[in-house]
Amino acid sequence: MSVIGVLTGGGDCPGLNAVIRAVVSRSVSTHDNDVVGILNGWEGLMRGQTKHLDRDDVRGIIAKGGTILGTSRLDPYVHGDGYASVAKTIQANDIDVVVVIGGDGTLRSALKLAEEGLPVVGVPKTIDNDIAATDVTFGFDTAVQIATEAIDRLTTTAEAHNRVMLVEVMGRTKGWIATYATIAAGGDALLIPEVPYDINEVAKIIKARHRRGHRYSIVVVSEGVEPPDDEAVAEQVDAFGFKRLGGVAYQIAPHLERITGFETRVTVLGHLQRGGTPTAYDRVLGTRFGVAAADIAARGETGVMVAARGMEMVPVPLADACAEIRGVDDALYNTATTFFG
Ligand code: F6P
Repeated sequence: MSVIGVLTGGGDCPGLNAVIRAVVSRSVSTHDNDVVGILNGWEGLMRGQTKHLDRDDVRGIIAKGGTILGTSRLDPYVHGDGYASVAKTIQANDIDVVVVIGGDGTLRSALKLAEEGLPVVGVPKTIDNDIAATDVTFGFDTAVQIATEAIDRLTTTAEAHNRVMLVEVMGRTKGWIATYATIAAGGDALLIPEVPYDINEVAKIIKARHRRGHRYSIVVVSEGVEPPDDEAVAEQVDAFGFKRLGGVAYQIAPHLERITGFETRVTVLGHLQRGGTPTAYDRVLGTRFGVAAADIAARGETGVMVAARGMEMVPVPLADACAEIRGVDDALYNTATTFFG
């Protein structure tokens, strides 16, 4: 019998509880392993905050947002001295493998710990969908669904008033949520970090639409785009060194209003995209990631991340997943822009 530790790190994400439920149930029922839940991400591993988890502890949680384990943005390489700062908790709980459910920051720390000797299995978590080496991350579908519904609603009120609406969505350095929501809701312009934008070109699209009698335009803005020339950006950073984003659309809106002459309003969706119940797709995807992680951990295969490849869940080297942040490809971006103008 092995002892499997499980933690959730970084920002929360719809579907985390589905993964935890699957890791625990599969480890206990199928592999006869024990599971120790590590509370509050890396903080729990550094400070010995743990909880034994059995099948009964994870019943009835699949539909819940958030994470029953809690999370934090503490990091063993920023707030501790790497492996040495987690070794005590690992030894005290006889943990053989840690399943680390996290985004790029958490997985990069997992990779460093793995290089220092900690046996880890990663699970890619983020609404941003930007982890390399996997086709998709859980939580993304829920965020896109929420953004799409918001745009649908903003469209009718925009049309009533002949307004331009800027809808700012999350995604940090990549525009996956923005691009999918634009395609799904029929947005009229799209600004993502991967593609530099020209505000005059955006204004041209909007003016042409309104000239043809359309009484609204929806511009989807990914939070990580650059603000218009010469304007300052907020520079608050978290433990992983990530900028705290949110509000760039407020900097862009007055420029668009000035050039187009149409009243331009802003909605920033923010954490609404991360909260609440996961979609059925994310519950299933999270479950598949969790089952695969438990199986891989039971085989003693470590230093890997579970990746979704087509219909399969496969282990890939953790280093591959951390090698880059995956952005929107040209083909997908062009699919969205096909409908502009
Ligand atoms: O990485 C997920 C994410 O939701 C990003 O889209 C966003 O920029 C960031 O986390 C916000 O993090 P926090 O909730 O810590 O401010």
